Amino acid sequence: MQEISWNQAIELGSPYPYTLLVTLDKAGKPNIMGLSWWTIVSWDPQMMAVSVAKRNYSHDCLKHCKEFVICFPSKGQEKGAWLCGTKSGRDIDKFEQGGFTPIPAKNVKPPLIQGSTVAFECKVINDVDTGDHTLFIADIVGLHGSPDSKEHLFSVHYSKLVSIGSNGTCDFDIEFK
Ligand SMILES: Cc1cc2nc3c(=O)[nH]c(=O)nc-3n(C[C@H](O)[C@H](O)[C@H](O)COP(=O)(O)O)c2cc1C
Repeated sequence: MQEISWNQAIELGSPYPYTLLVTLDKAGKPNIMGLSWWTIVSWDPQMMAVSVAKRNYSHDCLKHCKEFVICFPSKGQEKGAWLCGTKSGRDIDKFEQGGFTPIPAKNVKPPLIQGSTVAFECKVINDVDTGDHTLFIADIVGLHGSPDSKEHLFSVHYSKLVSIGSNGTCDFDIEFK
């Protein structure tokens, strides 16, 4: 092993499943942001945390709305999903320009994105300042999925996947060019 840069560490630590964070702005308009820094943080009760940059429009939306939906975009939604990670909802309507269809959630105000592999409805219960980001910690209050559309997207720098089998062996090993 050797000492490496931050960028190399991020790349070697990949893949990071690429998700879409859906919130509402102060006017009640839905916005979508690309987000790789998410994690489940409790099994019982079911909880999730997301790390959102303070400069992002979604940060303002979350502070105000205190609810969000995490959607895993499925294969075929990559073009719109990339737009959501590179353009701000301050400037454009990402549902419209990303070609996404909102559908009502069951227990939160922000909508789900039709066709997502899986969607988690979340209510923020706490937030923690983490440098240039804020970590929003939330209860998961609703679950939706598309069992027939299992393939979802991973973020940039994804180069290799090795699946760990239940007995600690490798089930499969894929290289991406
Ligand atoms: C692959 C990828 C992963 C990203 N992950 C995050 C993330 O975890 N947290 C974050 O705050 N921004 C993340 N971003 C950046 C935001 O998606 C981007 O700044 C977006 O334009 C913010 O939109 P908004 O201003 O509408 O909130 C990511 C972008 C990409 C392309």
